[in-house]
Order: sequence, then C-alpha cells, then structure tokens
Amino acid sequence: MTERLATDPEGIARAAALLRQGALVGFPTETVYGLGADATDDRAVARIYQAKGRPQFNPLIVHLPDIDSAGAVARLEGDALRLAGAFWPGPLTLVLPVRDAGLSPLLRAGLPTVALRVPDLPLARDLLRRVARPVAAPSANPSGRISPTRAEHVLDGLAGRIEAVLDGGPCVVGVESTIVGFGPEGPQLLRPGGLPAEALEGALGRPLAAAPQGAKPNAPGQLSSHYAPAAPVRLDVTAPGPGEVMLGFGPVPGDLSLSESGDLVEAAANLFHMLRALDVRGAAGIAVAPIPDHGLGRAIRDRLARAAAPR
Ligand code: TXA
Ligand code: MG
Repeated sequence: MTERLATDPEGIARAAALLRQGALVGFPTETVYGLGADATDDRAVARIYQAKGRPQFNPLIVHLPDIDSAGAVARLEGDALRLAGAFWPGPLTLVLPVRDAGLSPLLRAGLPTVALRVPDLPLARDLLRRVARPVAAPSANPSGRISPTRAEHVLDGLAGRIEAVLDGGPCVVGVESTIVGFGPEGPQLLRPGGLPAEALEGALGRPLAAAPQGAKPNAPGQLSSHYAPAAPVRLDVTAPGPGEVMLGFGPVPGDLSLSESGDLVEAAANLFHMLRALDVRGAAGIAVAPIPDHGLGRAIRDRLARAAAPR
C-alpha cells in the first residue's frame, strides 16, 4: 500500500520520517515529482532503481534544502557557485566533484561527480530540511514513461512499489531541471530543462561551452571507463582462476558476496562498494559470479559488463 500524504505538518513529518527510515517517498518539486530516498542509504537507493524498473544504474540527482548543505556534499566553487547563487532554489542541476559526505556510490553510478539541486518549492525544501540528509530523487515514473507532474501520475505508475507520495498538487514548471556540468572549457549544458540556457549565459556573461559529443550520461557506453576497476573483470564465473579474487552471489561463494541470499536489492546496494574493495587488493583480476538477467539483475549486469569491457 502506498500512503497518500497531505501537505499539512503531519503529512510532511510522516514523509520525512519514512525517508529517514529508508523508505521510498514521492514528493513534488517545481519541475516534476521526484521519487525520493535517503541518498546515504545504499539499500534505499537500490530500491529506487527497482521501483522504476531501470535496466541501468543512471546517476541520480541529489536534492538539498539550501546552498550551504549542497556545499557540504560537493565542491561548489567558481562558475558553479555563481550559477547556484543566481538560480538556486530553482530548476537547475549542477554536476560537481563529490566530497565524501557519506553519499551512496550507487546513486553516482560510481562517478567522481554528483548532480545536485535545490528545488524552488517551499514544501520540498521544508521536507528536505526535516529529513536533514541529502535525498536522491529521479523523476517518479517507471523507466521509459513520462515524468509525473501530479501525485495521481506518481500513483498510476508506482502505487504498491513505494511507501508514500506527498500530494502537493500540480507542478508549476512541468519539465525536468536543466543540467549543467563543468568541463575543461567551463560550464556545459548536459540536459536542456526548466531553466533556459540563455538565462545561464546571462548570469555567466558568456556562452556555454559545447557539450562533448554524446555527453548524455545516460547514453549506454558513454561513461564506461568510469565504472572500470583497475583489475580486469570476468563475468559469469563460478570458480576464480589463479590470482583472481571472487565476487560471489547467491549460491556461488566469493571473497565477498553481493548477496548470499541472492537478493538483487542487496546486491545492487553492495555493488560499487565491493568492486572497489576487491580492486584495492592488488589481485590479478576480479571474477564475478553469475547474476540473474531480470529485474535489478539487468542493471547490475549492465554495470559489470562495462567494468569488464576491454580498455
Ligand atoms: O527536475 C528534475 O531534475 C527532476 C526532479 C525530481 O528534481 N529529477 C530528474 O531526475 O529529472 P532524473 O533521474 O530523471 O534525471 C537525472 C539525470 C541523469 O539521467 C543524468 O542525465 C544526470 O541527471 N546526472 C546525474 N548525475 C550525474 C553525474 N554525476 N554526471 C552527469 N550527469 C548526471
Ligand atoms: Mg527522468
């Protein structure tokens, strides 16, 4: 059962408490409804991908109530600080170098950067302040469907898969935030959205740099090198070769196991931590047990396949 919460103090307090317990809660922003989870809780983040049925672990946007709390999570300097000062709260997401603030590596898809946003809806910031932790939130729709701009849309797509939705009525902007990254040539438009590029260029006093070809981080293959451990990775292995360390799953044991009980949510939550842990042991390679090719298993296999790609 998915609770539908009113935006009175009781409803907001309930939504915050649920998020702090690791539950999934849909909540309104000025752009679209987000599917929120505690960004420091690997398991809660893994459940976002499961609820959305995403075949890949695309990196997620982290939501914060103000610039100061954003600065605690990522390095906010120079042009990034200028844009944040001009447009936050607002429909602008900035991709910034992560600080170690306990963020789940899963929500960054293993990247050294994190996407941050301070939404321009007082209700959303009130909720975020009460949660008092960074909140990961992709749009609250099943993968491949359009983004929801009303609580009913969230329930249409995700009822029964999430614990609650905070019903704040229709979203005023209705399209997702504009995403800006920072390359060697300065700020780049990674996704057009609710904040026009012209407004960004006005604040910067110069044009945005051209985004690199295929910069869309959710385009398969684009980020493959970032997911790769130093040691070569071999998939669908049931026993390690000489000098290899083993990442187990279910009945197949290993030096570490993604999930001894074969739970795909637990496996997703462990994936990046364990790849990293095995990679620092100076092994000849990392052998990975077979992972089922359904549900979250598909996203896990996708990431492992990138980690295993020749380079
Ligand atoms: O308006 C919005 O942005 C909504 C509301 C809920 O805030 N959220 C949203 O999230 O649209 P989502 O998951 O649908 O889009 C997240 C996108 C990813 O697909 C990716 O393009 C980009 O944000 N992204 C996230 N982290 C990134 C990173 N580290 N580097 C580059 N791009 C990143
Ligand atoms: Mg989306």
